[in-house]
Amino acid sequence: MATARDGKLTIRPLTAARVDDVKTVTRGTWGSTCWDLFPRYSAAQQRALGIVNTGPGTAEAKRREALAKLARRRKNSAGLVAYEGKEPIGFISLGPRYDFSRVANSKATPPVDDVAAWVVPCITVRRGYRGKGVAVAMIRAAVEYAGKRGAPAVEAHPRADGKRVHDDFAFFGTQAMFRKAGFRTIRGVLPGLRKGWTPRVTMRASCGSSPRISSASPRRSKPAR
Ligand SMILES: CC(C)(COP(=O)(O)OP(=O)(O)OC[C@H]1O[C@@H](n2cnc3c(N)ncnc32)[C@H](O)[C@@H]1OP(=O)(O)O)[C@@H](O)C(=O)NCCC(=O)NCCS
Repeated sequence: MATARDGKLTIRPLTAARVDDVKTVTRGTWGSTCWDLFPRYSAAQQRALGIVNTGPGTAEAKRREALAKLARRRKNSAGLVAYEGKEPIGFISLGPRYDFSRVANSKATPPVDDVAAWVVPCITVRRGYRGKGVAVAMIRAAVEYAGKRGAPAVEAHPRADGKRVHDDFAFFGTQAMFRKAGFRTIRGVLPGLRKGWTPRVTMRASCGSSPRISSASPRRSKPAR
């Protein structure tokens, strides 16, 4: 099997024609019913849009269409999709912070400063393709892509370094993962976290100084176009 290590990975912007690839990637994860809409819209916004997700199959067509509509926009990305050959194997959600209502308004992810950074709220690598650097390759591609679209930096709020967790609980990414992709920690775990909240840090990569994907890692990928 060709892997990210073998250099057969391509990472492309999400387009309306590629939304079903997101479904393929997220099958068997919480993302399969999410369609990348959870971090984007509050519950009230979802009700207004008629895309409330109450379980598998709920508002499926409307949610799919909502993502396709986001992908059709010219200005802001709705994410990137990774392919091994023609197989969709990864999805990274990406866009300006203001595009993600729950990130922008959450007490877990308050702004660090007024840099108009883009954010990566979640990442999914298809089962069977994990543990090969696909997530790291997508994060690097996200920084390059955001930079080409004028973002000064890309920010993430991954799980703080700690024990390995079940993959389902690593969808924010992890501190080590983003470190490998060239990010640095700009804020540690917030004090006084509510019970049950995941300890998360804030990490950032400057787009101007992002490493070129092709030379940053032996786990090569083609840059997003
Ligand atoms: C988390 C996830 C994206 C990782 O993808 P991946 O391609 O396997 O990650 P990488 O191979 O690039 O890993 C890079 C580093 O991240 C860290 N990492 C990856 N998975 C981890 C986990 N489960 N726990 C802790 N750290 C983890 C490790 O430091 C790893 O480096 P190592 O391989 O040297 O140990 C993948 O497991 C996944 O998709 N999980 C499901 C997420 C989900 O539910 N998405 C839907 C959300 S709506």
